[in-house]
This record gives sequence, C-alpha cells and structure tokens, in this order.
Amino acid sequence: YKDVGADDKLNPFAEQEAWEKHQIGKATMKFGAADKKSQDDYEFIFEDQIQFIQTSILDGMKDEEEEKEDEKQIKKLAAKSAFDKLQEDRKMLPMFPYREELLKAVEQYQVLVIVGETGSGKTTQIPQYLHEAGYTKNGKIGCTQPRRVAAMSVSARVAEEMGVKLGHEVGYSIRFEDCTSEKTILKYMTDGMLLREFLSEPDLASYSVMMVDEAHERTVSTDVLFGLVKVFLFNNGSVVMISFVKDITRFRPDIKLLISSATLDAEKFSAYFDGAPIFRIPGRRYPVDILYTKAPEADYLEAAVVTVLQIHVTMPPGDVLVFFTGQEEIEAAEEILKTRTRGLGTRIGEMIICPIYANLPSDLQTKIFEETPEGARKVVLATNIAETSLTIDGIKYVIDPGFCKQKSYNPRTGMESLIVTPVSKAAAQQRTGRAGRTSPGKCFRLYTAHAYQTEMDDNTVPEIQRTNLGNVVLMLKSLGIHDLINFDFMDPPPAETLLRALEQLYALGALNDRGELTKMGRRMAEFPLDPMLSKMIVASDKFKCAEEVVTICSMLTVGNSIFYRPKDKQVHADNARMNFHSGNVGDHLALLKVFDSWKETDFSTQWCYENYIQVRSMKRARDIRDQLEGLLERVEIEAASNPDDHEAIKKAITSGFFYHTAKLQKNGSYRTLKNPQTVTIHPSSGLSQVLPRWVVYHELVFTTKEYMRQVIEIKPEWLVEIAPHYYKKSDVEDTASQKMPKGRGRAAMD
Ligand code: CDP
Ligand code: MG
Repeated sequence: YKDVGADDKLNPFAEQEAWEKHQIGKATMKFGAADKKSQDDYEFIFEDQIQFIQTSILDGMKDEEEEKEDEKQIKKLAAKSAFDKLQEDRKMLPMFPYREELLKAVEQYQVLVIVGETGSGKTTQIPQYLHEAGYTKNGKIGCTQPRRVAAMSVSARVAEEMGVKLGHEVGYSIRFEDCTSEKTILKYMTDGMLLREFLSEPDLASYSVMMVDEAHERTVSTDVLFGLVKVFLFNNGSVVMISFVKDITRFRPDIKLLISSATLDAEKFSAYFDGAPIFRIPGRRYPVDILYTKAPEADYLEAAVVTVLQIHVTMPPGDVLVFFTGQEEIEAAEEILKTRTRGLGTRIGEMIICPIYANLPSDLQTKIFEETPEGARKVVLATNIAETSLTIDGIKYVIDPGFCKQKSYNPRTGMESLIVTPVSKAAAQQRTGRAGRTSPGKCFRLYTAHAYQTEMDDNTVPEIQRTNLGNVVLMLKSLGIHDLINFDFMDPPPAETLLRALEQLYALGALNDRGELTKMGRRMAEFPLDPMLSKMIVASDKFKCAEEVVTICSMLTVGNSIFYRPKDKQVHADNARMNFHSGNVGDHLALLKVFDSWKETDFSTQWCYENYIQVRSMKRARDIRDQLEGLLERVEIEAASNPDDHEAIKKAITSGFFYHTAKLQKNGSYRTLKNPQTVTIHPSSGLSQVLPRWVVYHELVFTTKEYMRQVIEIKPEWLVEIAPHYYKKSDVEDTASQKMPKGRGRAAMD
C-alpha cells in the first residue's frame, strides 16, 4: 500500500497504515518460516500485488466505545436459544426504535415513502410490524423485490423469525415458482409477479398493504407498477383511458402503499405520489476507507482475485464481498481462488467461498448468511444483488471492480443486448457502504480515483429507458390501457421505444392496425414470457409441435447454465455437447434433444453427470415446462408432438423470432436483415463452424463484439410465408447464392 500523504499529520490514517504495514511484515515473516511449497505460493501473491491509493472516508457515526458496547451485547445474546436470539436480533435493528412511529404514519397516510440504509430492517421487519399491528386481518401484506433471489431469501428469513414454515403464513412468489398457500399473509414476490397479478386482480383486492421495496432500483416492473397503482387503485392517472376493466375495478381508498428505498433521493417518489410523506430511518454506519488503484486494471477479474488473496493473507479478520457482473465471472473467480489457496497450508486461515447470483439454487443461497467460524474468512462473490437487496452481516472488505451487466436497447435497430458497463457513482457508493455495516471497513475500488470522478455517471439510467418494452406494452394493452403516450411513467421511456414495441407487437400479430389487442395478443399475454417466446408457443399450434416448442422455451428460459465445462475436462465436455448437435440441427433443437434424452432416462442424475449437463438447470427447465404445458390448455393449444419434423419446429421458432434474422457475409460474419448490423455466431453455438447462410438467433450478447447466442438455420422463404407484413420477397432474395456454384447454398440447408 502506497502512502499518500508525505506528511503524516495530514493523513488521518497514518496510524492505521503503519499498523497494516506491520501486518504485512508479519505475514512476510511467517512466509519465511513456512515450507518451501507454500512460500512459492505466497510469492506470487506479492508479485501480483496491486497498489491502491487511499483517498477518502465516509463519515463514521459510531465511536469505539459504542462499538465495544455492541460487541458485549452481541456476546450476551449468543447464549440464548436460537429463536429467542432471532427475536433479540430483531430488536437490535436500526428500524426497531421507530416501530411505533412508523405504524402511526402508516395509519395516518395512504402512501408513505420509507428511506433507510440497507440492512436497517425495512424488508424483513416492516411487513412483520404491520402484521403484528393487525393489518393482516383484512388481507395480505405484499412486498415486492426486484430480484428473485432476494424474494426467496428474505421470505425464508422472515418465516424463521416468525417461527413458521416457509410457504405457510410467510411465502414467496417468483416466476415459475409459487411458494405460497391459502394461509399466506406475508407474501414476498418479484415486482414482475405483482404486475402479472394485476391481470387477474387489477384492484389487488386480496391485499391490505402493498410494499414496493427497493424502489431505488427502478426496474421496469417497479416503474410500471407505480403507474398501474395510480390508475387502478387511486384513480388519479386520469388521462389514461381504461376500457373494459373500468367496470370491475373498485378503487381502493383502504389499501396502504409503502414505497421503500435505500437511497436518499426519495423526493422524486414523494413528488410522483402527490407529495406523499417521507419516513426516514436514521442509519448506523461505520467509517469505510476507500482505496483506488494507482493505474487502471486491464483484467478486473484477475485484479479482484489478487486483492482477495492480499486481504486474506495480510488483513485482520473480517469477511470479503466482491462484486462481479454475472454467474460466469463468479464461477471463474471461484475456481481460480480455490486453486490458488490450495497450497497455502494451515498457517493461513480457511477461506470459505460463497457465490451468490440469480440462478444459484436455493439450498446454496443460505450459505452466504451462515456465520463465519473463528479463524476462517468468508469471501462472498456476488452480482449486484448484494448492492442493496441482500445484507450480509460481517462484511469488512468490499472489492468493487466497478462494473455490472446492463441491458441496453437501441430502438432504432431494435437490438437489445446485455453489456458489461461501468457502474454509476451512486451504485459505487452503495457497494462501498456494504463494508461498514457492522464495523469499520475498507473498500478496494479496482479503478482510479480519476476514473471515478470523470468516467462514471452520477446515477444509473432507469431500466425503462434502456430496454425493449414489448412485454410492458402487451401487458398494458391487456389491462385495457391504450393511451401509452399519456401513461403516467415516473420517467417516460423514449417515444421511439414505445413505437418500436407497438410495431413489434403488430408484426407478431398481437395488435391490430388500430393498436388494439387481438385474439393472438390475448393468448400471448397468458404466458409469463417475452412476447417473442409467447408467440413461438402460440404459433406452434399451427405447426403441430407444441410439446417440442414448450420444451425449447423452457430450456431457453433457464439460460446458459445447461452445459457444464470443467477446466480440466473441456475436451470431454465439448465432445459430449457436440453429440446433441449431430446433423447440425441448431442450438434450439440441440436443447430439445438434451431434454428429451434426459426424459428418456427417467430424469437420471447420472446421465447428466455423464453428459456434462447441470442437473439443477435441467430440473428447473422441467418445472418451467410443466407450468407452460399447463397454460397450453388455457389458451386452447393442442399439446401435439412431432419431434422429427424439424422444419415445423423451426418455423414455429421463426414465427416468434423473425425479427432476429441474419444473413451470412463473405467474411464469415453476419448482417441482420432489417436495420443491418454486423453480428457473429457465438463460439458456444453448435453452428459456429457451420456458418449457414440464413439464421434466426435467440439473443445477442455483447462481449468483444455482438454475438448471436442460440442459433438455428432457416430458409429465407419462410420469412415471407410466416411474417408477410414484415418481410417482402425482395428482402429475402438470395442474390449471393445465385453467383455461387449451383446448389452450394442449398446443400448446406438440406
Ligand atoms: O431491507 P433492509 O436492507 O433495510 O434490511 P433487511 O433485509 O430487512 O435486513 C435486516 C437484517 O436481517 C440484516 O441484518 C440481515 O443480515 C438479516 N437477514 C438475514 O440474516 N438473512 C436474510 N435472508 C435476510 C436478512
Ligand atoms: Mg431490503
């Protein structure tokens, strides 16, 4: 660590730094005594040492006295039984002293904005307080979360605190997983699920209180929820026309709406809800030293790993939280950390690595909350789910590479992709704050102070302004809301994006030329899927292959965690994967083959192991599939099966995804057909070496370039057949193939 101030009097951390140096010295001395093998391991750590510059701190709000007092309290409590302890823990939360005041405010006002630091107990406590005060007598208390993992983990905690079984009095509901029952009075759910509930219950009749939590995240669903609440519950979205639902809607002067947020810019929420009062919960926070790197880091994953090791070897006890952009990075980091700590020997404490990301199976999610044993150090590798949604006690060190994965949408080209982007200053501050919840901490920012000042935005742009709104528009139309331009969005999406969405839904046949919902649209809206996927399912009826298409949809929905590729067995894994691609059927059909083969083995776990397939992902696909299959009947789609008719299946896929068509160029890259953009087949695709002339892709991911992930080959004439209102014959004329030797283009097709 580099000294910043030459004059220590100017440096308030001189003492601490000296102490740290002492620690590093001690660690080095220890290495001297260690055996040869582990010494080498240590050397590499210090060779790679990253230099940080310490620049500033957050104001501390607690002094050491208080800290010791807290510690004493905590020790006293440890003796108590687990349940009693939980009750005591509840009383220790910053929220607790404000319990009565909060209840009074809820009683007095219909809408209340609640602001409190992450970890103060908003999510877990407020619904319980309201329940204790009798609000569950006439309805449920709902609490929305932007992320599924948060909904699951928080409800589990609350069930534990209330001493009930999860799914009984306390439950959660996320897409494709409903863990609630008749008994449920506290219901945690994703904001997306609440949106879907509006479709069947636009006045939220079964709820007495709705808490829209983590409102600062400003997800599309939260923003749309706000608008819907105004229209359906308060009747003050007056400009908006509601047609058919109006008659069945009773407005809800009795429902309580709580909007809770971890950031301080609550005025905006308050203003949006006609000046609703703001209830502020004073935070408890310890000082956090912020350290920046001296120079930009070329490889933030490597830099993060090295920093974890540095902390582990040289710094006093305390857990570490590292922010990565997604599951792949987290898994990579986990593997590297495991390899590099293997040789450390017994002198250095154990490192417990806990990953946490959206698709992590629930049995592994609880691991991050387990107390760290004495002498060990927990290292949590998280996506930005740990930024505000989840609070992990005991974190003392935060490593922030400064990136997150964000959706980005270009309404001009209609292209949406996930891009790794620098976080905003507000997000960086939230991340830093995670280090100072239970004691003073340190935050290692893997970027320079200059980058922070000059390259990072102040706030994250609300998702509604950078995403495809097909989904939202279909939902609003299904609710009878026609005038989207005048819908009261907190931050309106670009008009171009709305138009694009209308246009797309029209092309899919979900809206007619007057912008009204068609029968097709009504059927599509039944599925909790993106319109293109819903269309693919509804279209499968015509092609008599609903069973297969539903399987493909489920596999696509699980995402990219089907195939498993361990570092030391990559060749075997790749061979196993390629088996499913025989005949160059394309990725969708390969996924179908994976599922059907698994089904043939009666869902054997052993089979998954042998084929390098993640059994957990497969089970999830099976669950999703069961639910989608259940919906087929509701929209009167015959559950026909026709696994060998690849053309029919591909045509059904094309019916939903004709937008995503690309044509091969001479140089081996592709060009999207409408609004031409250069794209490439992702190396993980079974077709990445085959390079068919015409392809339809499922999604784009941007890494080093724009990649198409999940690709099938199509015949261009299908486009005119399937989407005549979108493609004309001239769009798909295969001029290039005419110049080629006869049949070459076609040979690849057949
Ligand atoms: O919502 P807010 O950030 O204000 O706090 P919370 O999520 O209600 O968390 C309150 C406390 O419960 C924290 O100390 C968390 O660590 C703890 N908690 C937990 O131990 N396990 C969970 N699954 C969720 C929260
Ligand atoms: Mg919370």
